[in-house]
Amino acid sequence: MPAISFEDVYKIYPDGNIALKGVSFQVEEGEIHGLLGENGAGKTTLMRILYGEIKPSSGAIRVFGKKMKFDGPWDAIRMGIGMVYQKFSLIGGFTVLENLSLSALPLGLQREDVLHRVEDIMEEIGMKIPLQEKVDLLPVGVRQRVEIIKALVRDAKILILDEPTSVLTPLEVKELFRVLKKLKEKGLTIIFITHKLREVKAITDRVTVLRKGRVIGTRVTNEVSELELARMMVGREVLFKLERRRAEPREEALVVKELWVRADNGLWAVKGVNLRLRYGEILGIAGVQGNGQKELIEAIVGIRKPERGSIKLKGRNLVGMDPSQIYKMGLAYIPDLRSTGLVMGMDLVGNLLLTRIDEFTIKSVVSWKGATSETKNIIDRFSIVADSVKKPIERLSGGNQQKFLLAREISRGPDIIVASEPTHGLDVGATEYIRKQLIDLRDSGKAVLLVSTDLDEIMQLSDRIAVMYEGKVVAEGPAENFTLDRLGLLMGGIVGG
Ligand SMILES: Nc1ncnc2c1ncn2[C@@H]1O[C@H](COP(=O)(O)OP(=O)(O)OP(=O)(O)O)[C@@H](O)[C@H]1O
Ligand SMILES: [Mg+2]
Repeated sequence: MPAISFEDVYKIYPDGNIALKGVSFQVEEGEIHGLLGENGAGKTTLMRILYGEIKPSSGAIRVFGKKMKFDGPWDAIRMGIGMVYQKFSLIGGFTVLENLSLSALPLGLQREDVLHRVEDIMEEIGMKIPLQEKVDLLPVGVRQRVEIIKALVRDAKILILDEPTSVLTPLEVKELFRVLKKLKEKGLTIIFITHKLREVKAITDRVTVLRKGRVIGTRVTNEVSELELARMMVGREVLFKLERRRAEPREEALVVKELWVRADNGLWAVKGVNLRLRYGEILGIAGVQGNGQKELIEAIVGIRKPERGSIKLKGRNLVGMDPSQIYKMGLAYIPDLRSTGLVMGMDLVGNLLLTRIDEFTIKSVVSWKGATSETKNIIDRFSIVADSVKKPIERLSGGNQQKFLLAREISRGPDIIVASEPTHGLDVGATEYIRKQLIDLRDSGKAVLLVSTDLDEIMQLSDRIAVMYEGKVVAEGPAENFTLDRLGLLMGGIVGG
C-alpha cells in the first residue's frame, strides 16, 4: 500500500486560477520522493492540500489507504503528516521548547512528554538544537531543524519539505541531507521539493515532475538524467551552457575603497574591502552566506551606513547619500529576499510603482494607464505566470514573484545592477532566462555586481570573481583563475585555495 495516493486532484482557486488539473501519482512508504516543476507548476498547492490547509476542488487523497477528509491541518497531522514550511511557523519570542510544547498541545501531550520525546528524537537522529534558546536568536538552519523536530514530536510518518534548501548554506544542506537519510532509515516517507536538479539526484529515490498543474511523469531517480528531468519540467530542451563572448570592460563604474561596515549586532561585518567594477563586466562575489556580503551590498545601495572608507559611483562618493538618490544615479538593486522588494498585499501595478513611480508621474499625476501597460509588458517579456496585473502579488507562485522583482528593476534600464541571489527559488527555465539577461546587460555595456552563494552561478556568469570570507576579500581575479574546488576552499577560509 502506498503512503500517499493522489487521485485525480483538481484545484481551482476562488479567482478562477486552475492550479491543478487532475494530478494522480503515488508516494511509496519509506521513500524520499522529489517533486519538481517550474515556478507556478502547482507543487506548493498540492502540498497545502495534502496538509489540509486548502481543499481540493475535486479528487481524493489516500494516506496509508485511508481517505482524507480535508477538515484542516489537524486532520492531516492526525493522519501522520508533517510540513516544514519555507517561511517557518514558529513564535519568535518563545523558546524552542515552548514552541514545541505549544504545537503538541492539541495532541494532549504535556510539556514533560514533549521534552522526553524531543530528547529521544535528537539522540536517535543525531541532531542538536538548543531547547532553552529563544527562536528569534536562532539562525535559519537551526529553525528549520526545530520545524522538523516539531513534526516528529507530533509523530509524523510523512514529512513534507517545500524548498528546504533555498535558505541554507552548503554545509547546512549537507547536514539536512544526513538527517533526511536517517529519517528514511527510520521508515519515514519524505516529499522533497527543490529546483536544484543536483539535489534531486543526491537525495531522492523517485521523482515526480509537474508541469502547469499536470503530472508529466514519475521516474526512479537513478534511471533519469538531469537533462531529461529539465526537459520534462520545461517541455523543451534546456541549455545548461550559456553562450557568451569575452567581456570588453570599459571604465570603472563603482569603486569601493577600504570599506568598513558593521552588522546589526554592532560587530564588524565588512573589514576593509576594496573592489572595482567596470562597465561591461560581471563581478561575482562568492562566499558562504554571512561573511559580510549582505552588509557590503547594503552599504553600496545606501541602506546601511559604512563607518569608514568610500564607495564611488560614477566618480561620486555615495557614502551619506540616501537610497533613492543612489537609485536615481542609475543603480538598480535586486535584493535576495523578495519580500523586502515587494508589498505582498498590493497588486502588480502597485508593486511596479513602488520603485518606478517617477517614470509614470506627469505633473504630479500618476498615469495608471502607463504603469499598467508597462506591467503587462514586463509580464510578457519575462514570461511571468500571472493572469491579471490587478491581483495581489502574493497570489503569484514564489518564483514568479522573484521574476517580477527582477524584471521591474532590469526593465528600468539601469547602468549598474547589484543583484543578490537573483535566481534564488527560480526553476531551470527562469534561471536560464535571468542569467541570459544579466549577460546581455553586460554585453550592452552595463556593470553587474553579482552576489551569489551558488558556485555554479558564479562560475557561469562572472568575468572576475572576488571571494569573501569573514568580512574580507580573500581572493580576487579573472574567472579563469578559479575552479569550483578552489572557490570552495577559499569560501571555507582556506587561504590560497
Ligand atoms: N492563493 C492563491 N490564489 C490564486 N491563485 C494562486 C494562489 N496560490 C497560488 N496560486 C496560483 O496557482 C498556481 C500554482 O502555484 P504554486 O504556488 O502551487 O506553484 P509552485 O509549483 O509551488 O511554484 P514555485 O516553484 O514558484 O514555488 C500558480 O499559477 C499561482 O499563481
Ligand atoms: Mg512553491
